[in-house]
Amino acid sequence: MSVPGRFIAFEGGEGAGKSTQARLLAEALRARGLTVVVTREPGGTPGAEAIRALLLSPPGEGWPPEAEALLFAAARADHVAHLIRPALARGEWVICDRFVDSSRAYQGGAGGLGDEAITALHAFGSDGLRPDRVILLEGDEAALAGRLAARGEAADAIEGRPAEYHRAVAAAFRALAEADPQGFARIDALGAPEDVHARILAALGDLLP
Ligand code: TMP
Repeated sequence: MSVPGRFIAFEGGEGAGKSTQARLLAEALRARGLTVVVTREPGGTPGAEAIRALLLSPPGEGWPPEAEALLFAAARADHVAHLIRPALARGEWVICDRFVDSSRAYQGGAGGLGDEAITALHAFGSDGLRPDRVILLEGDEAALAGRLAARGEAADAIEGRPAEYHRAVAAAFRALAEADPQGFARIDALGAPEDVHARILAALGDLLP
């Protein structure tokens, strides 16, 4: 009998180290003999990557908030239909760098559209698919901003929004995690990557074969 696939999402603000931790988790799971797909949002499929480019470098004067939320939901619908659900159906583990809770925190919370609208778009677009566990990487605002600056990459259209927008994102993530302590693991993102990785493995202990 094949081991059922599991779906793990990494969430958090900019500079929290999601991509590094997604990679470290994938390596640890593969070492246990599991088949793992690492993917990201917005993106992960050719269609969703095309929408990613539209979202992060908007042509024209920038998307109205509603259009932005629809584009994220459209990218996710493609990603879920063409990559995530098929992988889970094959019994693979899917590790996703951001998923619907990013839309809930950024567009729903900080962007002011509200959780109901985002949840409704997700129900329509992706039949409401939820991760088995969300790893929320959290850390002090100044420390995370420092990490981001050290990377030296130009900010995209969303990353470049003002500090109060990103503060509202962090508060929204916190509220989502508090409302669903079973679904979210809140992880301290500060410290050495291997220490953060150990915290994440411990938080997934009940899901590991
Ligand atoms: P990334 O920097 O993690 O690749 O994500 C790209 C940007 O898109 C980041 O600023 C967060 C933002 N984002 C949303 O606003 N809503 C979403 O649903 C997702 C997946 C990302």
